[in-house]
Amino acid sequence: WAALAPLIFAINKVKKERNAVILAHNYMTPDIFHGVADIVGDSLQLAKEAAKTEAQVIVQCGVHFMAETSKILSPEKTVLIPDMDAGCSLAESITGADVRKLREANPGVPIITYVNTSADVKAECDICCTSSNAVQVVEAMGTNKVLLIPDQYLAANVNNQTDVDVLTYAGSCEVHERFTAEELRDYRAIDPDVKIIAHPECPPEVVAEADFAGSTSHMIDWVKDNSPEKVMMITECSMADNVAASTPGVNYIRPCNLCPHMKRITLTKILDCLLDMSGEVIVDESVADRARASVERMINLKN
Ligand code: 13P
Ligand code: SF4
Repeated sequence: WAALAPLIFAINKVKKERNAVILAHNYMTPDIFHGVADIVGDSLQLAKEAAKTEAQVIVQCGVHFMAETSKILSPEKTVLIPDMDAGCSLAESITGADVRKLREANPGVPIITYVNTSADVKAECDICCTSSNAVQVVEAMGTNKVLLIPDQYLAANVNNQTDVDVLTYAGSCEVHERFTAEELRDYRAIDPDVKIIAHPECPPEVVAEADFAGSTSHMIDWVKDNSPEKVMMITECSMADNVAASTPGVNYIRPCNLCPHMKRITLTKILDCLLDMSGEVIVDESVADRARASVERMINLKN
């Protein structure tokens, strides 16, 4: 940390001069999460913050679809991403044209898109959802069948929690699909007291082995509410590092997987983008207008 102090100091100084706010996803490394972020959270929390911030510049420390969501919700703001190549296997798995084909093949079935998609995809869908509100959004459609795209595993996990028939697509998260139920059973056999909490992008048989499944923020809340002695977070590696600081006494066991896209964001790149005002995210206005309708419908759903 001492070696990082000058960089953190410089970022916080330029941030003020630029009237910028740094929104950081829970998967950012602790130097970003604790050192320079103004607001941290899961995808839903960051989208809501982007919609209400008064800062002129948003620096999105996360992946590209998150920065696009911020731009869609705050078109008058400058939205920067420190590395344009920070993608997501889910966002890359489907295009707007694919959604149009799905609609033709499933007339009358509402199409819900996971927030981990491009603006083009959001523009073609009826409503957006995140991992923290997917069941609520599915049930709010008022139909007995919905399409929840593109994450086949999130959809399968939601399907297990509702009477609505949840159809889906072939996308998956390259980080969460690698966890297996067998490895969770092996961990439990070695350490029966451990509490296992998993992200719903994991395959359903992995979620079935867990004590709790929820979005990144719901996982953090679960640890804070339950104060387990030992916990295993079945998700991206930085999560346990970040939450450890605010949950002293909890012992984290880390069979985590790294998200190579999230890990593209570094302190050096954050400083560079703030200094040069580089990495600006632009969304075509007509696409943004239709995508915004999808995201706002989700945000405006009553809890
Ligand atoms: P959350 O909405 O739970 O933060 O998930 C975002 C994500 O990309 C998880 O892989
Ligand atoms: Fe996408 Fe998975 Fe990385 Fe999240 S963890 S950004 S879903 S690839």
